Amino acid sequence: MSESGPSVYEWAGGAEAFERLTKVFYAKVVADELLAPLFRRMKPEHPHDVAVMLGEVFGGPADYTERFGGYRRLVGRHKNRDIQPEQRARWVELMLSSADEVGFPDEAEFRSAFVAYLEFGSRRAMANSKPGAKPGNRDSLKLWGWGEARPGAE
Ligand code: HEM
Repeated sequence: MSESGPSVYEWAGGAEAFERLTKVFYAKVVADELLAPLFRRMKPEHPHDVAVMLGEVFGGPADYTERFGGYRRLVGRHKNRDIQPEQRARWVELMLSSADEVGFPDEAEFRSAFVAYLEFGSRRAMANSKPGAKPGNRDSLKLWGWGEARPGAE
């Protein structure tokens, strides 16, 4: 990433922060009437896998790409799930309330970067989940930085 200073990953609190986030998030997901049907066969390691992937996206170690199968695996996991718009919206909503619950930083700059990726990723996941979708043929995850709102910049 070309941006200087701490990454969004570091600002969030590193790997441990993303682990806390996904643990709380998936507990909400399985109790949610709109989302539970999609995650009925979710494996116990799923929250960890998503924590690793999100960490990489925000500037942490590239473990999801190097050890887990990266972008192709991500696309494969969403394939044919036929995610509906109201499920996507709920997914983002629960991520945001989980971020509050686990004490993610609440600076405007951090939340702006975080929510921007959730919108991007969830819309891509929904599009790639449609039967017959033709996802991009890439090897790498799309990485996410601070965008327009970098801490300390006016
Ligand atoms: C920023 C948005 C998203 C990210 C970063 C994300 C991330 C991931 C990752 C990393 C996996 C695969 C984990 C593995 O390697 O095994 C996965 C699987 C999955 N995702 Fe997403 N996802 C996003 C959005 C969504 C949305 C909006 C939905 C549905 C509302 C969704 C539903 C699923 C389902 C059903 C699976 C498969 C779970 C299983 O294996 O049982 N995802 N997601």
